[in-house]
Amino acid sequence: TATRITAPEIRTRKGGAPIVSLTAYHAHTARLIDPHVDFMLVGDSLGMVMHGYESTVPVPLDLMIMHGAAVVRGSQRALVVVDMPFGSYEESPAIAFRNAARVMKETGCGAIKLEGGQRMAETIRYLSERGIPVMAHIGLTPQSVNTLGGYRAQGRHESEWAEIESDAQAVAEAGAFAVVIEGVAELLAARITRQIDIPTIGIGASADCDGQILVLEDMLGLSPRVPKFVKRYAELADGIADAVKTYAEEVRSRRFPGREHVYGMRNERVEAPGT
Ligand code: KIV
Ligand code: NA
Repeated sequence: TATRITAPEIRTRKGGAPIVSLTAYHAHTARLIDPHVDFMLVGDSLGMVMHGYESTVPVPLDLMIMHGAAVVRGSQRALVVVDMPFGSYEESPAIAFRNAARVMKETGCGAIKLEGGQRMAETIRYLSERGIPVMAHIGLTPQSVNTLGGYRAQGRHESEWAEIESDAQAVAEAGAFAVVIEGVAELLAARITRQIDIPTIGIGASADCDGQILVLEDMLGLSPRVPKFVKRYAELADGIADAVKTYAEEVRSRRFPGREHVYGMRNERVEAPGT
């Protein structure tokens, strides 16, 4: 079997061919995207997309582990990165290590991701010095929705730039192997990409980032509302609704199942109905 792409390999892709990534939440989609992506992220966005939570804040660690293990089982080539959910890493480096180690051991993933810049630098160093590759996530950090007061693009005023640049610098110096830059003014995302020596993975950021990521369901047209930065590469919701409508009509009219979908008898003496 093929060996997987590793976090250090992603790290070496700085300034090279763009890094391709998408989210995956279960084995089925992991299998579909595995040949085409460099890494797949088991994002805590699964709480909203798959489980109907209003934000990512309520997502439990055990849920991330269940989905992470499924994605690892469903893939063989791409690096699998699993999000640390809100409340599982912020308190201290030691608690972050304990929970991240559980994620690595119980899913078989190759790296974890956590949100935060300067405030998480010490934890990023603690984990990466102890065998846990860390992808950082700065700019719009959805787990902080309650302190941010909503989901709003960051760095659209130059007065905000220094803070976000310091976040990028801090996670790079702390040993993160890559950093997601989400919902950040294009000019700033491009500038940060030039300033730091680890790959930047953009989402609502810049085409100049070292890679891009999108939520799979968003780009497939399965999500009812999507942010401006999502390009829809398919409209699968329409296809699903059409298929389900046709199925319902065929069941109600007894056109499904057809002869080819039912099992005949193997022995010769089959009695005709009513004899
Ligand atoms: O949870 C998620 O899907 C993410 C990506 C959007 C970066 O963190
Ligand atoms: Na996330």
